[in-house]
Order: sequence, then structure tokens, then C-alpha cells
Amino acid sequence: MKKNLFVIGIGFLLIGASIISACTKEGPMGKPGADGTNGTNGTNGTNGTNGVDGGTNCQECHNPATVTLVAEQFEFSKHKYGEAAFGESGTVGCVPCHSSEGFKYVCQNNISAAFTQNATTLRWTNGYNTIPTASIGEITCNTCHSSLHTTYGKEDFSPLTTIAPVPMTFYGNGDATNAAKTINLTQDGGISNLCVKCHQPRPFTNSLTNGNVLNYDSLKNFPAITFYAATNPDQVNKLRPGYRTHTHYGTVGAIFAGKGGVEFAGTETYGNSPHTTLATCQDCHMATQTGRAGGHTFNASGNFAGCNKSGCHTDMSATKTSFVGDQAAAKQALADLAAKLTIGGVNIMNMNPDATTNLWAGKTAKNYDGYLNIYDPINNPNGISNNPAGTFKNPSTSGMSAAQIAINSGLPAITLTNAQMGAIINFQLCLREYSLGVHNTKYTMALLKNTIAAIPAATK
Ligand code: HEC
Ligand code: HEC
Ligand code: HEC
Ligand code: HEC
Ligand code: HEC
Repeated sequence: MKKNLFVIGIGFLLIGASIISACTKEGPMGKPGADGTNGTNGTNGTNGTNGVDGGTNCQECHNPATVTLVAEQFEFSKHKYGEAAFGESGTVGCVPCHSSEGFKYVCQNNISAAFTQNATTLRWTNGYNTIPTASIGEITCNTCHSSLHTTYGKEDFSPLTTIAPVPMTFYGNGDATNAAKTINLTQDGGISNLCVKCHQPRPFTNSLTNGNVLNYDSLKNFPAITFYAATNPDQVNKLRPGYRTHTHYGTVGAIFAGKGGVEFAGTETYGNSPHTTLATCQDCHMATQTGRAGGHTFNASGNFAGCNKSGCHTDMSATKTSFVGDQAAAKQALADLAAKLTIGGVNIMNMNPDATTNLWAGKTAKNYDGYLNIYDPINNPNGISNNPAGTFKNPSTSGMSAAQIAINSGLPAITLTNAQMGAIINFQLCLREYSLGVHNTKYTMALLKNTIAAIPAATK
């Protein structure tokens, strides 16, 4: 907070100096603009309208109602106060979504989400990376408004850094069996695509075999086949499940667009709620500011101003029956799905009541966090199923001490069918969109209900 106020302070102090330096770069300074015309006199004691300014209009933006106000709202945005930009800086695969320079790099260079194959090793790798020299920077005004300070006019805000359709990193290019998928939310000129570019899930890969994107369709098309068993050779298992086998945090984009779930056939029809084509992320997350929500706080919690904007709802509120009822239904479906993912008496979905480490605490009664309930000496020391990386078969890949390997070996091994792996993915997508279906009730409920029906019964 202190740092930001200081920067704004400097901004105002330097306004004079910056005009000169900005202009000397371009050539000699132009003549001052013509004086504004005088304001017309007000009637009944109101003030006259202002004259048009001459010269460069720094104050179009640098005024209390614009940059200053927005910068204050932004203090309450996790884009600003979150720590991931700091933590992940330098990691070229993480910063396309976590840092300012990384994001601008992948946008401006149109970096593809495709996986590429190494001609010698034949392994595939995720190509959605920035470069080391563009892998830093906290998310700031310039991240989304990358044209700021180019023409020094207010129009510098309007070209957002990107509004292009978003190829899903979750699908990579796949191999021949996974068709690539693109999200394109065209309402309001495509401004939601800006958000989806970062708020999208990350791919699962065949880490034990060729490194390519997991074939998600095979999970629903061949549901009964064993996806993972400790007794299988590695060429048969595609990945070794662990506590952190997950689709990452930004699942909103996929659920909102109604794309990317493992769509098991079932009685529920896949479709989208009206939000998908009518509402923008900004409508709800940047609505008129109230308290700590709205505007550039990007926070939608408890702020119904966006829901009730003209042309949308008229009386949406925290007590409205449809809102409460739909969220309760999604919450119940998540609970039912997690309960059915009990294999050999072990509930495979992890629970964690601590709201500082579980971003989804309270979203379900049992406080699921989307991780797997698998032993991990550092991240999940109380995990109750065996970590296949720490077995006597795979000791070198685990980083565990001999004592930890012994603890781990005493825990029950997990076996997953294709359907159960698909169910884990769908559970993560639907829990981690945070809104208990508000983003896209229809798709969320179809995905959860059809998945519950498609997986085998819980086993003791
Ligand atoms: C299109 C709106 C806009 C215009 C026009 C504009 N600025 Fe800015 N300026 C910004 C924003 C946004 C920031 C970042 C504020 C923040 O991070 O809190 C900024 C920041 C600054 C800073 C702080 C250093 C920095 O780059 O973060 C200075 C100095 C500055 N502006 C000078 C000027 C001067 C001088 C002019 C006129 C020649 C000008 N600005 C015109 C929007 C504008
Ligand atoms: C450059 C990538 C990027 C863009 C673009 C982006 N976000 Fe984010 N957003 C993030 C990251 C990363 C976080 C988490 C930051 C952290 O924890 O350090 C986040 C956090 C959030 C949060 C808070 C989440 C929480 O757990 O409380 C909301 C809400 C949000 N973003 C909404 C939006 C909206 C709406 C847009 C479009 C207007 C948008 N974001 C654009 C990357 C982005
Ligand atoms: C495709 C974009 C994308 C990529 C690539 C990405 N992340 Fe994220 N990550 C996000 C978004 C979006 C969020 C915030 C989601 C939210 O809170 O709603 C997030 C959240 C996080 C958080 C949680 C922050 C918190 O608030 O607790 C961590 C930690 C994290 N990411 C680490 C990483 C690491 C490490 C990598 C690279 C291995 C990575 N991310 C790659 C988009 C991405
Ligand atoms: C995560 C992306 C993101 C970040 C970061 C961000 N903005 Fe914005 N900003 C937007 C979007 C999207 C809009 C357009 C909202 C709409 O059209 O509903 C917008 C609109 C604006 C507007 C209104 C522009 C107009 O044409 O009326 C101003 C002013 C503004 N932003 C200033 C800032 C300042 C100052 C910062 C930094 C303190 C900032 N923004 C950071 C996404 C962002
Ligand atoms: C119809 C309104 C609406 C739209 C449109 C919408 N959201 Fe949300 N969003 C919500 C609600 C409601 C929540 C849950 C807030 C809560 O309970 O904390 C939420 C939660 C989130 C969160 C978790 C942060 C938090 O505060 O809990 C992120 C991140 C997010 N939305 C991103 C997006 C993105 C990106 C888009 C566009 C693709 C989008 N949202 C579109 C209403 C909306």
C-alpha cells in the first residue's frame, strides 16, 4: 500500500518533467494547444462548464476520480495483494498468467498453447511459456492496459492487452486424439477473453509415457479400463497420481464457457446458462463498487450491482430463492461426487478446513480442496493413501527419507479407473470455479450429475 501511494505521489510530482522527456523522444516539443473556450455561465448559481484543455491531457487520467480511485480499488484486488507473482517470477511456464511481463509476452507474440514434440526423445512438452527476460512483474495497470502512456490520451485504456479467442492450455494441441479447444466469449467485444487467458485450467500430461496432453475423451469413452494401478508397468500407467495431481486454480474460464469437462453421457443435457453468452466477467466482477467489491477490486462477493444492471436481473440478492437454491444444489452435487470417489474405504478427494491454505474452504461441508488424499511428507503429511512415487518400486522419484517411505508403504494403494480419473478432473473443475454454479449452472450441474452416475459405487 505504501509503495503504491508513493508511486502515485511521484506520478504527480513528475508530470511536468515527463511531458518534456516524453516529447523529446518523439522530436521537438509542439506548440502548446489552443486555449480552451470559456465555460458558459451557469444559471442559478451552478458553475459554468470547463473549457477544453490545451496540450497533453495527463489530467484526463491523473485525477482523483480516475487513476487515483482505481488504484485505491486495486489495492483490494488479489491481482495486487496476492503473492504468486513474486513467488513464481522467473518460472517461464508459470508467469504467462502470474506476471505482467510474462502475460504481455505471450499475448504480443501470440505464443501457442500447443505441445511440441522433441524429434530425438519423441517426448512432448508444453510450449505455453514466456522467455526468461520477460518473466517478472506484479500484475498492475499495464498488464491489462498495455497501451498506457503510448498516446497519452484516455483512449490508452481501451485497447486491452488482449481480447482474442483463447486456445485452451488444458487441451494443448493434444495428439491426434485430442482436438484443440478454444474459448471465445464474444459479448461486449470479447472483453472477457482477457480474463480467460489467465483464468483457465492447466493440462494433465502423460508424464510417465510421452509427456503429451492426457487424452480426456478416452476417460469417458472407456470408463471401466484401469487408469492407474501400482501393479501396472509404467508404460501402461500414464501418470502417477499424487497429492498435487490437479487442473490448477483457474477453472472459471472453462466452466463459464461450458468447455473442457470430461463430458460423460447421461440423463442431463450439456448446455449453458444465459451468462455464457450474455454476461461478461466484468459485469459481475467490475460492477459498481460497494465496499470491498466491484470496480477494480475484481471481487464479486456479495455485490449484486452487476446482476441487477439493466437488461439482466431486477431483484437478485443473497436471499433470492433461485440463487440460494442453485448454489445449494451444486454444493450437494459436489458432496455426492466426492463421497462416491471412495475407493477401498479411502475418500480420494482431500479435505482441509484451514481457510488460509484451502481457497475453497466452506464451499463444501467437508471442505474439499480439489487435491488428492495421498501422502506427501511436505504438503500432505496426514494423507491416508499411498503415494506411488514413494514406494519401494519407485523410491528414487519420491524425495522421501527411508522413514517416510516406510510410513508411506503402510498406507493403502489406490487404483483408479478411467471414469474415476475423469470424475476427479470434473470435481476439480466444478469446485475450483468458486461460485457453486453461478458462472454456469446448467453446465456445472450436467457435468456433476452425469459424472456421479458414470462412476462405480464407493467401495469399503
Ligand atoms: C490513459 C490514462 C493516462 C494518461 C493520459 C497519462 N497517464 Fe500516467 N499513468 C497512468 C496509469 C494508469 C498509471 C499507473 C498508476 C498506478 O500504477 O497506480 C500512470 C503512472 C504514471 C506515472 C508513475 C510512473 C509509472 O509509470 O508508473 C507517471 C510519472 C505518469 N503516469 C506520468 C504521466 C504524464 C506526465 C502524463 C501526461 C503526459 C500521463 N502520465 C498521462 C495513466 C495515464
Ligand atoms: C495476467 C493474468 C490475469 C488476468 C489477465 C486476469 N487475472 Fe484474475 N487473477 C490472476 C491471478 C494469477 C490471480 C491470483 C493472484 C495471486 O494469488 O497472487 C487472480 C485473481 C483473481 C481474483 C481473486 C481470486 C481469489 O481467489 O480471491 C479474481 C476475482 C479475478 N482474478 C478476476 C479476474 C477478472 C474478472 C479478470 C478480467 C477482467 C482477470 N481476473 C484477469 C491472473 C489474471
Ligand atoms: C494458464 C494460466 C496459469 C498458469 C500457466 C499458471 N497459473 Fe497459477 N494460477 C492461475 C490463476 C488464474 C490463479 C488464481 C485463481 C483464483 O484464485 O481464482 C492461480 C493461482 C496459483 C496459486 C495460488 C495462489 C493463492 O492465492 O494461493 C499458486 C501457488 C500458483 N497459481 C502457482 C503456479 C505455478 C507454480 C505455476 C507454474 C508451474 C502456475 N501457477 C502456472 C493461472 C495460472
Ligand atoms: C486484470 C486486468 C486489469 C487491470 C490489472 C487493470 N484494469 Fe483497468 N480495466 C480493465 C477492464 C477489463 C476494463 C474495462 C471495463 C469495462 O469495459 O467494463 C478497465 C477499465 C478501466 C478504466 C475505465 C476506462 C474507460 O475507458 O473508461 C480505467 C480508468 C482503468 N481501467 C484504470 C486502471 C488502473 C489505473 C489500473 C491500475 C491501478 C487498472 N485499470 C488495472 C482491466 C484491468
Ligand atoms: C453472473 C455473474 C458472474 C459472472 C458473469 C462471472 N462471475 Fe466470477 N464469480 C461470481 C460469483 C457470484 C462468485 C463467487 C463469489 C463468492 O461467493 O465469493 C465468483 C467467483 C469468481 C472467482 C473466485 C474469486 C472469489 O472472489 O471467490 C473468480 C476468480 C472469478 N469468479 C472469475 C470470473 C471470470 C474470469 C469470469 C468470466 C469468464 C467470471 N468470473 C464471470 C459471479 C460471476
